[in-house]
Amino acid sequence: MNVVLLGSGTGSNAETILRAEKNGDLGDASIKAVFSDNENAGIMDHASHYGKPARFLSAGPFKTKLDGESETAWIKEIEFYEPQLVVLAGFMRVLKPPFLQAFQKRIINLHPSLLPSFPGLNGIRQAFDYGVKVTGCTVHWVNEIVDGGAVIDQAAVRVQNDDNLQALEAKVHEAEHRLLPEVVRRLSIGEIPFPR
Ligand code: GRF
Repeated sequence: MNVVLLGSGTGSNAETILRAEKNGDLGDASIKAVFSDNENAGIMDHASHYGKPARFLSAGPFKTKLDGESETAWIKEIEFYEPQLVVLAGFMRVLKPPFLQAFQKRIINLHPSLLPSFPGLNGIRQAFDYGVKVTGCTVHWVNEIVDGGAVIDQAAVRVQNDDNLQALEAKVHEAEHRLLPEVVRRLSIGEIPFPR
């Protein structure tokens, strides 16, 4: 299963996927390339470290979405790697219908809350501020609704009374680092079905 990773930031989740592949823990998944809209993102360093093509592409004039000519360029460059799976690992752009159609039913996203609670930005902070006692992370199929596609799997994290935001962030990220590579692995061996 050819996989491409898209991310905008630190890339800790991409790193866990790349490490899992190196350790032989990623089933039949093969990471072909890492794409980022941020030239200096940590995710690019992780890609290079693991010997993968690290592709920076400008996302164009918009701050929060991929649109117009840039969108077309992204589609073309990603298609080159013939991915069966596109993983959004901290990719901070909203994807529009042309992109979604190009990789229909093949795009997954990681979100740091138990969806449908706390979609959008700052999922961990939203949960913390609300005062929930259980939060976590979600891997879901991507559709045109931000953080609204069908849930694939989730991991729960207990919020202790003495947790501050940083402590909770650390716990949620730890849960993400376990969940995402495992979902990729299970998709690659057919243990989790792709949508029809
Ligand atoms: C993760 O918390 C993920 O849930 C969210 O963005 C963050 C990316 O972190 N979508 P990293 O770049 O993988 O470290």
